[in-house]
Amino acid sequence: MAFVEIRDLHKHIGQTVDVRGWLYNKRGSGKIQFLQIRDGTGFVQAVMGKQDATEAEFLAASGLGIESSIEVAGEVREDKRSPIGVELTCRRLKVLQEVKDYPIQITKDVPNIDWLLDRRHLWVRSRKPHAILKVRSEAVQAIRDFYYQNGFVLFDAPVFTPASCEGTSTLFEVPYFDEKAYLTQSGQLYGESGAMAFGKVVVFGPTFRAEKSKTRRHLTEFWMVEPEVAFLELDGIMDLAESQIRFVVQRCLERCKEELKTLERDISRLEPVAKPFPRISYKDAQKRLVELKAEFEKSADPDKQKLAKDILKNGLGDDMGAADETAISMQYDRPVMIHRYPAAVKAFYMKRDPADPEYVLGVDVIAPEGVGEIVGGAQREDDLEVLLARIREHNIPMESIDWYVDLRRFGTVPHGGFGMGVERCVQWICGCEHVRETIPFPRTIYRTKP
Ligand code: 4AD
Ligand code: MG
Repeated sequence: MAFVEIRDLHKHIGQTVDVRGWLYNKRGSGKIQFLQIRDGTGFVQAVMGKQDATEAEFLAASGLGIESSIEVAGEVREDKRSPIGVELTCRRLKVLQEVKDYPIQITKDVPNIDWLLDRRHLWVRSRKPHAILKVRSEAVQAIRDFYYQNGFVLFDAPVFTPASCEGTSTLFEVPYFDEKAYLTQSGQLYGESGAMAFGKVVVFGPTFRAEKSKTRRHLTEFWMVEPEVAFLELDGIMDLAESQIRFVVQRCLERCKEELKTLERDISRLEPVAKPFPRISYKDAQKRLVELKAEFEKSADPDKQKLAKDILKNGLGDDMGAADETAISMQYDRPVMIHRYPAAVKAFYMKRDPADPEYVLGVDVIAPEGVGEIVGGAQREDDLEVLLARIREHNIPMESIDWYVDLRRFGTVPHGGFGMGVERCVQWICGCEHVRETIPFPRTIYRTKP
């Protein structure tokens, strides 16, 4: 028997077809049952009148619990009220497994998020998580297509690594036979090796940070896409990040209309990505923050007053905090790029700005709506002696990083790239409150199960 996927039902109007899946929801009376069926590709309503089926089937339908696995045969009818344009008149019902007491009920009151996360293996069937993960899948495909179409070579980096890339405070150490290793924080250093071999590479994989922070933006395990390009300098790195972000958002807007509707996402907030992204220097951002702090303190809006307290919390000249990013990003309707941060707050590998060596040729892309940094990137230090000095300053053990230094010994050229956290990007596209909703099984400080 050939089963039709729910997403294809509209091609079969007037025909009787077989559909299989799970009972998503149900209502009915002694005369008629409305079965909402999902099969992963979509949702459809199957209407079973008492006269449409045998008595046993009607009885089975009346008592069927949510998430029972079923097969139905039904006639496809056009129905303008249905989101997929069709409904089924159910002619036959076969129950594969009758389920009683499925724990997640479809009610108006949303259960506690931790309760739902404990049942994440089931919760992924529900409409909203399902829609978010569908957008994630589309975003990842768009990322892969973007780099493939632009001539990048996929260059996979290892997960077990000998050294830190982004500082030792967020390193996961793991026993490795008689030695120890660290879970990768970023594939960048390997990407740089790839760039010298292939010109343009992209590293894409899971990365790990021992983040003790319980914010809406932090996971301990997340996926990062990291392009790295030989002969590319800071302006080019910003152009690349901008094109990639635009490509991914446009693709999701085109292909995830239904999902974004399910999520009640205001897509007008995403449309401005078609315009150029504003670029401001860290120094200008700091000046602006001083003004915004004063402005928000006087504001009648309690949210702004609250934000004012945290603006420049780290102090002028230090790294930007979450409130700083939010305040700056509130000034724009699309992502903003902040470039040339103080060297003191950034990683060892970032190249100093020749115009002002206290600052580095790095860039962060800050997404709107409080999501914060979605991209961090930089032009890399390409001078052997300067790099060696930085490694010493940062107390990075030479024996763990000597291989990387080789890249500056044998044909060094200007180069750079960036990393985009897939989850933060999806969080912004979907308008999710918390980044943990954007990965099938989130890992956070208190969660390694399921
Ligand atoms: O800014 P980060 O730390 O940059 C790097 O790791 C560079 N080595 C990347 C490169 O140049 N190839 O991280 C890059 C991005 C952040 O902008 C953010 O989107 C994401 O990774 N990210 C996280 N996402 C979720 N949870 C966390 N704990 C994250 N830490 C970083
Ligand atoms: Mg960063």
